Amino acid sequence: MKNLLIKNASEVVTCSGNRAKFGKEMSEINVIENGSVVIENGIIKAVGKTDDILKDYDEKNYEVIDATGKSVMPGFVDSHTHFVFGGYRAEEFSWRLRGDSYMDIMNRGGGIVNSVTATRQASEEELIELGKQRLDSMLSFGVTSVEGKSGYGLDKDTELKQLRVMKKLNEIHPIDISTTFLGAHAVPKEYKGKTDEFIDLLLEQVLPEVVKENLAEFFDVFCEKGVFSVEESRKMYLKAKEYGMKLKIHADEIVQLGGSELAAEMEMISADHLLHASDEGIKAMADKKVINTLLPTTAFCIKEPFARARFMIDSGCAVALATDFNPGSNFTNSIPLMFALASIYMNMSIEEAVTAMTINGAAAIDKADKIGSIDVGKKGDIVILKFPSYKFLPYHTAVNIVEKTIKDGVVVWE
Ligand code: NIG
Ligand code: FE
Repeated sequence: MKNLLIKNASEVVTCSGNRAKFGKEMSEINVIENGSVVIENGIIKAVGKTDDILKDYDEKNYEVIDATGKSVMPGFVDSHTHFVFGGYRAEEFSWRLRGDSYMDIMNRGGGIVNSVTATRQASEEELIELGKQRLDSMLSFGVTSVEGKSGYGLDKDTELKQLRVMKKLNEIHPIDISTTFLGAHAVPKEYKGKTDEFIDLLLEQVLPEVVKENLAEFFDVFCEKGVFSVEESRKMYLKAKEYGMKLKIHADEIVQLGGSELAAEMEMISADHLLHASDEGIKAMADKKVINTLLPTTAFCIKEPFARARFMIDSGCAVALATDFNPGSNFTNSIPLMFALASIYMNMSIEEAVTAMTINGAAAIDKADKIGSIDVGKKGDIVILKFPSYKFLPYHTAVNIVEKTIKDGVVVWE
């Protein structure tokens, strides 16, 4: 494998750093004009002004990409998705357009449990094939690392099947996959009215197996009115923590339940959605350095108000942006649409949105020391845009402007 030299970029946006950026730090993306990047054995070896780099590194020894007129950025990190699932829910989407809410549909027996039926029926091979296609689509948008959750099994075998599928996909596909056990995504039909028994099943039978087979790094709960209460969630998190899992939460999405406060109390890695997070919850999360992962396309698709990104950043929080790609609330993995919504409707500056998709996304999956910026020693995960500036990301509204996606120093999509 030849090593890679990307030269003459109109700019290299490094997003430099090896931890999440909080509050005002989110505006610091560090732009090198006329920049170049050297990648050896999949790892970033050098980054700087083209003149300086070409003095130190001989082009003859590299596969060279001339990025004249292009912006070069870190690969995007999509830190919240549910991309392994069987079946689709197009009918539900049409009901939502007609006026039904996401929760109306869930309460009358639709929603997540529909995807559960289809995912239980799907074979591992089918899920791998679908997963591959979805990961390919992510690559085309410049995503080089993704987080994926279980949660469409809600029984031992299918939860494990989803996680094993992601483990396999991680081996065979260029995108790096971090996995999350979200057995507490909904109460399945067979446990209706018996939430405590279902929680016992998750904690006593499924979680130990997930840990034993090392199938997930994170533990997540859909903490929501009518799904899992704060008390039920706390009980599950305490157990998961005993097993050494890192914590994430679906919090305050539909109503203000106190998931944000719980995230701060338990010092979770990230709290996600947060459409209705309270002022106190947001301040507590800033204090405890919980990353606020916002999912604008979901709010858009379920016609809920956007999360208060401006207030969060002004309160000193670290905000990450992710797609929440899933078959129900948000059947899109569009990075361009997400950028547009974040900057136009959530009043995030373009620089803040870039930070949220790179180094803060990396921090939301606890990998800010390895990915999320163009720094020496990090993985050679890079995006080359068709235009000379990162500012085109929301400006060329909702259009994919990724020209090449590079993973571990290899062009994997163009
Ligand atoms: O993050 N809110 C809960 N879970 C997913 C939706 C899952 C589904 O509708 O299938 C979410 O939006
Ligand atoms: Fe989600």
